Amino acid sequence: SKATNGHGNPRDFIAKMKEGKKRLVIFYGSQTGTAEEYAIRLAKEAKTKFGLTSLVCDPEEYDFENLDQLPEDSCVFFVMATYGEGEPTDNAVQLMQNLTDESFEFSNGERKLEGLKYVVFALGNRTYEHYNAIGRSVDEEMTKMGAVRIGERGEGDDDKSMEEDYLEWKDGMWEAFAEAMGVEEGQGGDTPDFTVTELDSHPAEKVYLGELSARALTKTKGIHDAKNPYASPVKASRELFQVGGERNCVHVELDIEGSGMTYQHGDHVGVWALNPDVEVDRLLCTLGLYNKKDTVINIDSLDPALAKVPFPVPTTYGTVLRHYIDISAVAGRQMLGVLSKFAPSPEAEAFLKNLNTDKEDYAAVVTNGCFKLGEVLQLAAGNDIKARPTPENTTTWPIPFDIIVSSIPRLQPRYYSISSSPKLNPGSIHVTAVVLKYDSVPNRLSEARHVYGIGTNFLLNVKYASNGETAPLVSSVDSMEPSRTFLPSYAIEGPRGAHKDDTFYKVPIHVRRSTFRLPTNPKSPVIMVGPGTGVAPFRGFVQERVALARRTIEKNGPDALADWGNISLFYGCRKSTEDFLYAEEWPKYTEELKGKFKMHCAFSREPPYKPDGSKIYVQDLVWEDRKNIADAILVGKGYVYICGDAKAMSKAVEEVLMRILGEAKGGSAEVEGAAEVKLLKERSRLMLDVWS
Ligand code: 2AM
Repeated sequence: SKATNGHGNPRDFIAKMKEGKKRLVIFYGSQTGTAEEYAIRLAKEAKTKFGLTSLVCDPEEYDFENLDQLPEDSCVFFVMATYGEGEPTDNAVQLMQNLTDESFEFSNGERKLEGLKYVVFALGNRTYEHYNAIGRSVDEEMTKMGAVRIGERGEGDDDKSMEEDYLEWKDGMWEAFAEAMGVEEGQGGDTPDFTVTELDSHPAEKVYLGELSARALTKTKGIHDAKNPYASPVKASRELFQVGGERNCVHVELDIEGSGMTYQHGDHVGVWALNPDVEVDRLLCTLGLYNKKDTVINIDSLDPALAKVPFPVPTTYGTVLRHYIDISAVAGRQMLGVLSKFAPSPEAEAFLKNLNTDKEDYAAVVTNGCFKLGEVLQLAAGNDIKARPTPENTTTWPIPFDIIVSSIPRLQPRYYSISSSPKLNPGSIHVTAVVLKYDSVPNRLSEARHVYGIGTNFLLNVKYASNGETAPLVSSVDSMEPSRTFLPSYAIEGPRGAHKDDTFYKVPIHVRRSTFRLPTNPKSPVIMVGPGTGVAPFRGFVQERVALARRTIEKNGPDALADWGNISLFYGCRKSTEDFLYAEEWPKYTEELKGKFKMHCAFSREPPYKPDGSKIYVQDLVWEDRKNIADAILVGKGYVYICGDAKAMSKAVEEVLMRILGEAKGGSAEVEGAAEVKLLKERSRLMLDVWS
């Protein structure tokens, strides 16, 4: 439902470009918003460097047929993320179909784009097998059709170095771009993207205080999705284990009754967390807005095609920093360069400029130290980052708020594998998450400290608050004087959206569909490998089978499960008495599933150990059970699922599978085993839900 400006076809990007005198069109394939951010950054750079404006396009909103009509002095950019097992993002499915389908034709009736200029930046994650498959495929297809790539193809690795990969790639690309387009640097200007206006009086009920969509504010009914999350009441929450206050794991049950939202076992839930108080205060103080945090502001885009206001307005300064932009991420190198212009002293300016230009030093200090933007600004100005930030102990930087809005990306939801089955828990979504705590690397600016992930710490704080308990002493970094960081202001301010209503705390969520599903036929054997919180979706899987077993037995009697396939769960944790997730539930599931469900547990930090004293992990138990596993896969046509750590664990499990299958086929792991694993993946009988 886009505006049609009264004439023409709203899906015609060529017409839009002409109308806005734009020479560049940038298509982005984005699932969680990262590719979109990079698309916008490219658009901004084209404008500041060369004075060229772009049309930034969600490919879902435009037709692709007239790409052949792109004028000669124009250029098309593709900023394409690869998702899951080498798939396009949802919004790029059509575009990819058009590009790869031999029968698709452009408006000239041909599959030719002779001489058309294009740029590709691919986003992916190197720990997955099909690294950047989509970006590479776009590149290949465009070249096949006669289009000419400008510069190298950029490839960003989300696992490690997206930002650095982008920075490293773009300079060479812009050089080639200038030459191909016949433009020169310095033709642009430093024009702002937004204007920020403070409003003296505004009806309170029309101010966004954390709501993520217009519907959330007006309480209009409608579908809940990533653009309109549902504020779900927290029905129950508890800690599954808590090891000496060191490691926490939370179980949260989110109520979706009456929301119209549905889910399946194996789906993911996106949780819209908030930034911790300390970081919000730190930036409010740095920007000189501490006493204006509740001032209502409106933000307008000066060029909506280039930069949309990334969150709903009108809102308040405090809300933007708490709910809408990601001030908890490690400060970006490029951003530090932009902000150095507003430094309060020559020393602070030099401090930021050095970090901006010296890549090694930036990595050693900012990346290793896990410093957030507010902390870097405070450090640059010589403030004490361990003290609670106040207007008195924090130096003010004259950074216009529009610069903050355009340089800090939007706060994105955090995704978790749902740990329940809707059949056993109608109306509720369970989340199981280990609370994230990173160790920073000591460096010239700070000793080692713990840094906390915002999604899981948010859930932990929701857990405490909704049980009426005092939150533990959690800060965003533990070198700081402890404080109840993540939630207290809900109780005090009582704003709407993510917060306490009469009885429940509410967490904004949406469901993301996945293909991680049980086979429909219960006769197929199922093998699940999920150590740690990797067990989350498998709790849902087993519950799903329990629900089916109840119905089957009710209909066909107590022996009705006799021909069911075995369901094996390989689970691992440190100690049977310490961090064994849902320990009390599994025996009940075994009983209800009449022995068809079997659990194999690897307790890595208690005896028995291997003869050489090393730890026993899930992959070792899989190997031990190789006869049954080979049988289940090769004879029973069974299904294998791996969930959890993408790096070491899932790789090790795949290797063991190759060994088992290679041996069973009378060959080697490398040849027959690898071929079998590949086949299983192609047939969706080996599926991964892994994270890094
Ligand atoms: P560890 O921490 O004792 O090394 C859940 O985190 C479980 O996964 C723990 O028992 C953990 O053991 C184990 N784990 C750690 N690294 C692993 C790996 N590479 N493969 C399989 N399991 C691993």
